[in-house]
Amino acid sequence: MATRQRVPDHVPPEKVSDFNLYSSPDMQPTPFGDPFAAISRLHEDGRPVFYSPETTRDGDGAWIVLKAEDQRNVLQNSDAFSSYRKIFSSAIGEDWPVIPLEIDPPEHRKYRSLLNPLLSPQRIAKMEPFVTAKAEELIEGLKARGTSAEVMTEFAFPLAVSVFLNFLGLSDDRLMEFVGWADELLHQGPEQRTAAAHKVLGFLDDLTEQRRREPTDDFISFLVAAEVEGRKLTDQEVRAIAVLLFVGGLDTVATAIGLDLYYLARNPDRQQELRDNPDLMPSAVEEMLRAFPSITPIRTATRDIELQGCPIRKGDLVSCPSMAANRDSAEFPDPDVIDFRREDNRHVAFSYGPHRCIGSHLARREVIIGLAEWFNRIPPFRIKEGTAPVTFGGFVFGVENLVLDWS
Ligand code: HEM
Repeated sequence: MATRQRVPDHVPPEKVSDFNLYSSPDMQPTPFGDPFAAISRLHEDGRPVFYSPETTRDGDGAWIVLKAEDQRNVLQNSDAFSSYRKIFSSAIGEDWPVIPLEIDPPEHRKYRSLLNPLLSPQRIAKMEPFVTAKAEELIEGLKARGTSAEVMTEFAFPLAVSVFLNFLGLSDDRLMEFVGWADELLHQGPEQRTAAAHKVLGFLDDLTEQRRREPTDDFISFLVAAEVEGRKLTDQEVRAIAVLLFVGGLDTVATAIGLDLYYLARNPDRQQELRDNPDLMPSAVEEMLRAFPSITPIRTATRDIELQGCPIRKGDLVSCPSMAANRDSAEFPDPDVIDFRREDNRHVAFSYGPHRCIGSHLARREVIIGLAEWFNRIPPFRIKEGTAPVTFGGFVFGVENLVLDWS
């Protein structure tokens, strides 16, 4: 990570905090950590917005917005807070935005209306039998191998990647290769990240070329045939959309499953509550999405603007950790209590505004089905003795080395 550590002149010293989403205590990889509790404690500091001098993956400074209402104001106001960035492509020395995440309205709208129907609740309902069958197959595979498993690599990632491949209309032949790419892209150092980005793009480009020659009824064929404003999408647009689905739809779902099982493994009473009340699973998953969300949307100010007394200048980065808004007591009574029956749970795990997650229906179904199948097939489980799951903060929070034991 390149560090800049410089506080711009316009940032008043009292607004600066040494908190950092990557390296503060509990944000760095921590055995048995709880990065969500650490974020929740930031609310006690009394500064709803503060400046963190090097808080992005590239070591840039950003304003950090904690309260749900302020985050809504930022994320819904794309005139003042732009999403236009080129994070993925800059990692490979190229210069194009992923679509639709790094594009602002009104241009954003034309892509969103093209893609929305593909991920609608009706379309996702048709994918459910596949998700269920895959979850069953993976869990039965684990059980055949013994009474413990590393959940991220043996269950959560393969499930999310398999659903993605199915969405693309591809078989599971190269499943583990894809799991490796997702890991390198999102969790390894710059060199591996760049190499993985090339591999993913190479794969998607080849697939696009194939589908242009021989269309099927899959997602890429849909994209190559699709029209926006009376013209076909270019190859560049197709790859910029497909690669975002890869980045946006794999790690997030796998992480949600992992964080939920991490919590449940450490809280046998909550496991029992779900075993006694299987119908509670959807609202339990919703509550765990609130309590353990993984993403921090980032925007760039397009003009000078004040927020909670902070002088944000044109060009400043503004970061909205969903884990902070979701622990805001003004929005959620007893925010640190995990209540599977919580009502009015309008959490921000999927963001607000025009970029609100397009994959939220699919994500919810994957997590609910994944956990329900786990509970159907695996008896009470715990962290395997002698192992230590490692949690981490950053742009995407998560957990690794999650070895569960049900012996
Ligand atoms: C639990 C799982 C998931 C979480 C927590 C999550 C979270 C998010 C968040 C917070 C955003 C907004 C980012 C921003 O405002 O800057 C977002 C956008 C997006 N997500 Fe998800 N996501 C999940 C699953 C998925 C899945 C399964 C897909 C694909 C099938 C997906 C595709 C996308 C896309 C394409 C966008 C960009 C939407 C736009 O810019 O209009 N996500 N997601």
